[in-house]
Amino acid sequence: MSRKLFVTTALPYANAQFHIGHIMEYIQADIWVRFQRMQKDDGKPREVHFVCADDVHGAPIMIAAEKAGKTPQEFVREIAAGRQKPLDGFHIRFDHWDSTDSPENHELSREIYQNLKARGLIETRTIEQFFDPVKEMFLPDRYIKGECPKCGAKDQNGDSCEVCSSVYSPPELKEPYSILSGVTPVLKSSEHFFFRLSDPQCAAFLREWALGNANGHPRLQSEVANKAREWLEGKEGEESGLSDWDISRDAPYFGIEIPDAPGKYFYVWLDAPVGYLASLKNYFSRIGKDYDAFLADPETEQYHFIGKDIIYFHTLFWPAMLHFSGKKVPDNVFVHGFITVSGEKMSKSRGTGISPIRYLDIGMNPEWLRYYIAAKLNSHVEDVDFTAEDFMARVNADLIGKYVNIASRAAGFITKRFGGRIDLGGAESGDSLLNQIRAGADEIAALYDSREYSRALRQIMHYADIVNAYVDEHKPWVLVKDPARESLLHEVCSKLLEAFRILTIYLKPVLPALAEKVETFLNVAPMQWADIQIPMENGHTVNTYEHLMQRVDEKLMDALVEPDKPVPPAEKAEDAADTIDAIAPEVTIDDFMKIDLRVARIVECDLVEGADRLLRFSLDVGEGRLRNVFAGIRSAYKPEELVGKMTVVVANLAPRKMKFGISEGMVLAASDKDDTGIYILQPWPGAMPGMRIR
Ligand code: MSP
Ligand code: ZN
Repeated sequence: MSRKLFVTTALPYANAQFHIGHIMEYIQADIWVRFQRMQKDDGKPREVHFVCADDVHGAPIMIAAEKAGKTPQEFVREIAAGRQKPLDGFHIRFDHWDSTDSPENHELSREIYQNLKARGLIETRTIEQFFDPVKEMFLPDRYIKGECPKCGAKDQNGDSCEVCSSVYSPPELKEPYSILSGVTPVLKSSEHFFFRLSDPQCAAFLREWALGNANGHPRLQSEVANKAREWLEGKEGEESGLSDWDISRDAPYFGIEIPDAPGKYFYVWLDAPVGYLASLKNYFSRIGKDYDAFLADPETEQYHFIGKDIIYFHTLFWPAMLHFSGKKVPDNVFVHGFITVSGEKMSKSRGTGISPIRYLDIGMNPEWLRYYIAAKLNSHVEDVDFTAEDFMARVNADLIGKYVNIASRAAGFITKRFGGRIDLGGAESGDSLLNQIRAGADEIAALYDSREYSRALRQIMHYADIVNAYVDEHKPWVLVKDPARESLLHEVCSKLLEAFRILTIYLKPVLPALAEKVETFLNVAPMQWADIQIPMENGHTVNTYEHLMQRVDEKLMDALVEPDKPVPPAEKAEDAADTIDAIAPEVTIDDFMKIDLRVARIVECDLVEGADRLLRFSLDVGEGRLRNVFAGIRSAYKPEELVGKMTVVVANLAPRKMKFGISEGMVLAASDKDDTGIYILQPWPGAMPGMRIR
């Protein structure tokens, strides 16, 4: 039997474009889904359905539409029209995107309500609420302001005071006013519908679902279970902590009308999660699959990825709604923390932080962000902080410096010397390097499955380190000089490409587009998890290596973080023939002689703490003293490889003050446009420190 999974992310409010928090959630879920889709159960591909929708109902959207001079339907349609581009841009591949205003959602929401009513779990009660006599509508708490009843601070919200932190109900406010019209609201009574969550059968079911086990382990993440326990237990002396839930709102309201109750609508949080089901239903009708049969199947598993602010709705209301209306309950909800940017909480209203739309617009590679987010995420409800330095270090030093460079170090030899042919020699059947890397398959799979992405990537990068150490040990660039060792060169480089293939499978859930390029380069079919164990055959030919990924340019990063900064011109890095810089404008010999180039001996070389790209050198330039020079070549060399070697420096460059000290010169190195390979210059034997280069 192959597993059947139904996966969603939270449905975003349709009042604005995606922010970085949404994209983080989608990337987390998309990685999980892609990982699952690479798996087989008993030789059959796992079945995964991944859907989302816009959450369109509720007062805030209704009011925003009115302000924009549009109907709510028009307003949310325009937001929906902007969804696909950023999703495609970040390779987030939902099977279907819907809206909670679909006919199917109206129908399913009413059906669930009617089932709850038949179970005796719906009750009506008359409540008193503030009403705006000008707007002729009841006011949600956050549309009322006034003086705090405790400390007297002005302009405080209807439910809590930002000055003294006290909590109260709107009628307690002094001098209340409606933020919509400015007038004093009046108290008016109205009949509301309640879901009787305080009923003991609800608490009993929820205790079982939220605090119990699933597959022999506690169902919920420990932090989430603790929250649920707090809510379920309530305060001392109470039967349970659950109070009845007000699920109705009075007209005017953009929402779904309650059956047999004209002028009454479902509160948006009732119909929003039902949108998960409605979206799946519409998707299935599109692909001709039986929705009822799928959800009736006890083997079907249902998972929701959500953020920490909506745990209450997903661990109490939603499972209870489903259970007591006779429907399948979720197998789990996977909760993540919030993303902050340089330690600052993102504010929806102020719109700070980094914009995912701008990220794509200025031409940043979406897989950098996927990799970075994955490197930061684990299975806990922890916040993630995005900083530019950290982002560049992870991408340039790890993703490119460790992984991508493996291919570029081996590919040239294979295509130019061996016609693209793979020859693993004896290593095809068994080899310690390759076996060691393959042996990680189950562990890495378990880490992806449990959403421990950061640990998965750490393990993968550990293997990349091992491969790079193998390159340094076998030195293909030395082997190539000795015709007698041609077959060894062939085997070493073939092993490197096979190792690169395995690492690419490991990374494929995170880097789907890069993996596709690698599949083209290696000339292999789309790779599944099981392919880890099946090496490329001897005699298999690979295609010409094309540039796989650029490094993050600091200027691009600046343009993202500080939108006032200009966007650097895009480089056409994808084109392999185009990775070499154009020749600079002509100069005279006098121009050239202005630059004083000298031979230098590398006396010391070490890492620079806090600077992932830099190495620090002490250079002997024949002056009877040592010069301190920094160079951004850490991705290409280890300090111990360089100590004692000769190189070339620009000796009359104006000293530059850097965060880590003064740099008194510049070490020369060759690279292509994108710095994928960096090669330090070395004079022929015999050159002495201080000799001028002319
Ligand atoms: N519409 C509701 C969800 C209904 S689900 C039936 C909603 N929408 S939202 O647009 O405010 O948030 C959508 C998702 O984004 C939620 O899971 C929320 O936790 C997540 N995030 C919102 N801001 C976030 C961050 N700063 N960081 C990470 N995720 C964040 O809530
Ligand atoms: Zn106060």
